[in-house]
Amino acid sequence: MLRISILSLLLLLASVFADPSVSTKRTLDFKEVCTNNKNWTTLYLRAEGSNDTLHYLWDFGGKPSILMALTSPAATLNITCEDFLLRKNNSITFSQDPIYTIGIIINRIIEFNDVNDTAVINIADVTNINVLRPEFFRWSRKSLSVIGDSVGLDMEGNSYNDTAKNITRYGSIKLSLRGFCFLDHTETTPHMLHTENSTQVDFIFDNIQTNETFSNSRFAIELLMVGDGNPDRILVIDPKKSLDDEHTPGIFEVIEVRVPAFDRTDKMESTGGYLQWRPVSYVTASRDATLSTETIQYPPSKVSNRVNAVKNTMLYCYYGEDAKNLLVQSIIVSLGSKGDGFYKKTHYTTWTFIIGYGIPPDEQFSNLVIMIITIGLGLPLIIIFATGIYVCFRSMSKRHTDTYLNR
Ligand SMILES: *[C@@H]1O[C@H](CO)[C@@H](O)[C@H](O)[C@H]1NC(C)=O
Ligand SMILES: *[C@@H]1O[C@H](CO)[C@@H](O)[C@H](O)[C@H]1NC(C)=O
Ligand SMILES: *[C@@H]1O[C@H](CO)[C@@H](O)[C@H](O)[C@H]1NC(C)=O
Ligand SMILES: *[C@@H]1O[C@H](CO)[C@@H](O)[C@H](O)[C@H]1NC(C)=O
Ligand SMILES: *[C@@H]1O[C@H](CO)[C@@H](O)[C@H](O)[C@H]1NC(C)=O
Ligand SMILES: *[C@@H]1O[C@H](CO)[C@@H](O)[C@H](O)[C@H]1NC(C)=O
Ligand SMILES: *[C@@H]1O[C@H](CO)[C@@H](O)[C@H](O)[C@H]1NC(C)=O
Ligand SMILES: *[C@@H]1O[C@H](CO)[C@@H](O)[C@H](O)[C@H]1NC(C)=O
Ligand SMILES: *[C@@H]1O[C@H](CO)[C@@H](O)[C@H](O)[C@H]1NC(C)=O
Repeated sequence: MLRISILSLLLLLASVFADPSVSTKRTLDFKEVCTNNKNWTTLYLRAEGSNDTLHYLWDFGGKPSILMALTSPAATLNITCEDFLLRKNNSITFSQDPIYTIGIIINRIIEFNDVNDTAVINIADVTNINVLRPEFFRWSRKSLSVIGDSVGLDMEGNSYNDTAKNITRYGSIKLSLRGFCFLDHTETTPHMLHTENSTQVDFIFDNIQTNETFSNSRFAIELLMVGDGNPDRILVIDPKKSLDDEHTPGIFEVIEVRVPAFDRTDKMESTGGYLQWRPVSYVTASRDATLSTETIQYPPSKVSNRVNAVKNTMLYCYYGEDAKNLLVQSIIVSLGSKGDGFYKKTHYTTWTFIIGYGIPPDEQFSNLVIMIITIGLGLPLIIIFATGIYVCFRSMSKRHTDTYLNR
């Protein structure tokens, strides 16, 4: 009796998990805005849902940045190009005030000399640090494509030229953005899970010239998060273990960053922005799991002069001087782990993350894994059960025979 109930419970569980999760889908539309003769790309995406609309702006004029705004369904974007190209405040507006906004700026690329092979960056050790400013790369568009229901933009930053310091470098940063409007895994490794409210950002540091005085160069990325959230609280970093590495071989962890809400109730926490990534960096173009290294994240910190921090970026065009009342915090992620041979080993390293709104998705066991678990647990149970019946039947029929013989 007990055996039967365990088995049916398992089967029930399997059928529940196997049900394709009912996911909401948005319709995605995009267009380039404020085209200009400087190869500077600004893309506007509009993802309409039944009750609201998500607007995205991806901008490569200066520091690459992303703005995400949730509005009522009918709200439209109003961008005054003349002012926008001059980076003036309030050159981006919405016809109705957004319900929620969050932005991100690729603020700095940091090269550090990892003298003792710890893979941990020490920002205070200025002699072993070089800061590269993303706006000093020459950003050009490699492709803009619609892949299924998603939109992809591939940009490449080349010919680094810091004219003030007279520093130039060869090599490129490839930055690929993908906008999604449905729940699925991305097709490029590490196959992040994305929702209908998210964008993937993928970095490749391809053959970037390192400082000749640094023997053990590694790279780190500093992001600025700007937007609605409690400016007095610090971004919440939450590394989560997962049981399943089916989509990202060998990686059993997801790092999650949540924008702190004004109150502490869960409801508010679930209606905000988040970042998510797997702590893995691939060191070859094939993104082979055996040739990968790790990423390390550091505690976020508040930015003291918030308006200055966003000036000359697309986010200033929207937030303007209001940035002083917003959450503006920086977060650093370094690429590499102890003993991996440093950047010089392959001159290639990647980092991929998701920026989204709402509840960060959790990896669920896939049907295949559930089937394997079900068979793995269920088969022995069936065998035990069958054996039980057989033994019962035998002893019963034996008793029968005995009775017969006794007669
Ligand atoms: C724009 O991009 C094209 C192709 O990448 C390049 O040939 C051209 O020089 C660029 N123009 C400017 C002004 O950077
Ligand atoms: C839209 O709002 C209605 C009523 O509030 C709700 O039942 C429905 O689930 C919402 N749809 C989405 C996609 O959030
Ligand atoms: C767009 O913004 C400009 C400048 O703020 C304003 O003059 C114009 O009326 C706005 N247009 C719409 C359609 O709201
Ligand atoms: C832009 O900022 C200046 C202060 O720096 C302010 O005086 C001006 O009103 C702002 N412009 C708009 C359109 O809000
Ligand atoms: C490397 O290790 C040596 C010896 O432990 C130490 O003196 C030195 O400060 C370390 N260098 C860095 C950059 O951490
Ligand atoms: C860097 O910029 C300066 C000033 O615009 C220019 O003179 C120089 O040729 C540039 N260097 C390279 C390598 O493009
Ligand atoms: C800039 O650096 C190059 C070599 O890296 C040097 O030849 C050139 O004279 C420098 N220019 C200035 C203005 O310092
Ligand atoms: C290399 O690092 C040194 C020390 O930090 C710095 O002075 C120099 O400008 C750097 N060179 C380049 C090409 O970045
Ligand atoms: C996507 O955003 C909508 C808009 O408010 C929200 O209702 C929904 O829960 C979000 N989806 C996820 C998976 O977080």
